[in-house]
Amino acid sequence: MSVLCVRADREDGESIRRRLADAGALSGEYEIDVEDGEIYLPLDPTVDPDAIDPSFEIVQRSLDRRETQTFPKDILGFEPTYERLGDIVIIDEDDDERARAIAEAIDESDLRAETIVNRASPIEGELRVRQWDVLIGEDTETVHREYGCAFELDIAEVYFSPRLATERHRVVESVAPGEHFFDMFAGVGPFVIPAAKRGAECVGVDLNPEAIEYLRRNANRNGVTDRVTAIHADVREVSGYGGWADRIVMNLPHSAGEFLDTAVELAGEECTLHYYDIQHDSDPFGPGEAAIREAATPDYEVTIENRQEVRSYAPHELNVCLDVRLTRSAE
Ligand SMILES: C[S@@+](CC[C@H](N)C(=O)[O-])C[C@H]1O[C@@H](n2cnc3c(N)ncnc32)[C@H](O)[C@@H]1O
Repeated sequence: MSVLCVRADREDGESIRRRLADAGALSGEYEIDVEDGEIYLPLDPTVDPDAIDPSFEIVQRSLDRRETQTFPKDILGFEPTYERLGDIVIIDEDDDERARAIAEAIDESDLRAETIVNRASPIEGELRVRQWDVLIGEDTETVHREYGCAFELDIAEVYFSPRLATERHRVVESVAPGEHFFDMFAGVGPFVIPAAKRGAECVGVDLNPEAIEYLRRNANRNGVTDRVTAIHADVREVSGYGGWADRIVMNLPHSAGEFLDTAVELAGEECTLHYYDIQHDSDPFGPGEAAIREAATPDYEVTIENRQEVRSYAPHELNVCLDVRLTRSAE
């Protein structure tokens, strides 16, 4: 069976195997292979390959299935859908009985899972937190790793989506050392922490006190406390950063438009804005572009640098990002 693997020198194999296993990215379903001094470590199919340490080489390789492992589908007779956040496994089933059967099968299998939860509500309220049915275990706090950063968080207290790893990486890759990076809706820091690791001076604001507590802990955990200021507030109430920002992230897709006046106040002479939105697929970027132009002109010239489709959100609804350059207009 052809599977995605990390290819490495054999002598580095054990340390890389341990790093992949700690990140929940190593598949136990296939045998590890060695050929010509190189080792092939199979990746867990639920892990986004783009979220693996970019220094690892990822290749397709035909590997034998391990005979000794038991997987949920061996118990259930079908392949269940689930995703992983640290050592929490998340399932998404409307039928409680089916959810429980899947959770029990995952627990009995050889998959690593401390806690297994089912989604019990949509993402709700100003703080964008979801309710969960905890089916196995009890701890909803975990440490999730992506692109070389570690994020401590409690899924019952804060927002976090592992599905946005590739998008966050896309944004953070353009961050330059020393730039002023302002995240208006920072959560536990999945934009702020990697931006600070690239040498930016970062400010992260969030209305949720738990998210700000985790952002501080994550700055400490990732060794960037000196470059991160974490502020618990409604971002509209924050003072002292007028004209400060070289880059602003606005990831509050359903209502970011209401915060554009604040973003314009924060923007420096030249500022890149990453504006997240959810719109109908017939015109996913038009409403955001119009709102940004209305808020920023005539003080700024507005250049749309990139229109990014992030993911499908619901039938005919797209989660998109506008990357926008704001340039202060001549007097
Ligand atoms: C969709 S989450 C994004 C979190 C983080 N940027 C991420 O990508 O994981 C939006 C965040 O905005 C915060 N929020 C909502 N209204 C806010 C406001 N008026 N001021 C500051 N933060 C706010 C919520 O608490 C939530 O953590």
